[in-house]
Amino acid sequence: MMADQIEIAAGRLREGGLVGFPTETVYGLGADALNADAVAKVYAIKDRPSNNPLIVHVADVEMARACASVWPPAGEVLAGAFWPGPITIVVGRAESIPAVVAGGGATVAIRVPGHPMALALIERFGGPIVGPSANRSGMVSPTTAEHVRAQWGDEVLVLDGGACQRGIESTVVDLTGDRVRVLRRGMVGAEQIARVLGCEVEVVDGIADADGGALASPGLMARHYAPGTPARLIDDESEIGEGAVLLAISRVPEGVRGIAMSQDAPEYARRLYAALREADAMGAKEILIERPPSEGSTPENTAIWRAIHDRLRRATG
Ligand code: TXA
Ligand code: MG
Repeated sequence: MMADQIEIAAGRLREGGLVGFPTETVYGLGADALNADAVAKVYAIKDRPSNNPLIVHVADVEMARACASVWPPAGEVLAGAFWPGPITIVVGRAESIPAVVAGGGATVAIRVPGHPMALALIERFGGPIVGPSANRSGMVSPTTAEHVRAQWGDEVLVLDGGACQRGIESTVVDLTGDRVRVLRRGMVGAEQIARVLGCEVEVVDGIADADGGALASPGLMARHYAPGTPARLIDDESEIGEGAVLLAISRVPEGVRGIAMSQDAPEYARRLYAALREADAMGAKEILIERPPSEGSTPENTAIWRAIHDRLRRATG
């Protein structure tokens, strides 16, 4: 049954079609990375600016090397430490990867996703697939198959791999410059990357302004991952007004409409996007988000809280 679904999905990719697929972070919108027309459909359906490059998903390091013009030693180290997993590595783009994948640029972002269904799909298809988050550009990323179906209906075939276990997007790390740079915070922290590489890692944390110069990572726009209802962070219960819905860290105060999240960073991350959607659907005037802690019990959890803060900043931007 499941093998059949994978085969049907792989067939769709071979025909130049689009497939929603699960990863451990969020659901991706897959297309044949070597087929420029198929990739163009991804930009069109998402309404994504053509200069915002896509991540190429591969099954293993060997496939990653084939997508890169140069596969640096640091890529090998990061892949060994974190793949399959939530880290995306930016390297020089091989000629075989169409320019449209990279938003016209000379680099390409690559990752091996940590989800058996994603890996089975790539293996069955037999080549790399692009996979932006399967939301319309600027909206909240989907973390269930249902979220993807709700967005695209019959336009996109969706593989159902359950709810995503990590819940927010991969860390994007750029190996093409003099210094290693994190372009997007994610589930793997800059400190963890620095530790395994044995070098300093810069974090490009600024949100690009709309009229600013070239973006290091064009996905880093101020308003992104955003629900339709206006959202803002609060520090105190006294800020909760009439007609608001609250994303509480652990307890929703009596008489307040809200959703209880978690004090545990991985659990908070796992639930965040579904909670934003749920809050959005409650028809409130405003979504209030209780400011989460900035430090966790371990360096890994601190990194996840930082990634959560990054996404909340964009959701409220
Ligand atoms: O967890 C994830 O990364 C998910 C799952 C589906 O794998 N994918 C995802 O893709 O979040 P997307 O397209 O929503 O975000 C990709 C991010 C964007 O910020 C984009 O600008 C950046 O990666 N990016 C892609 N290619 C790049 C490149 N060549 N250089 C710099 N940044 C790049
Ligand atoms: Mg996205």
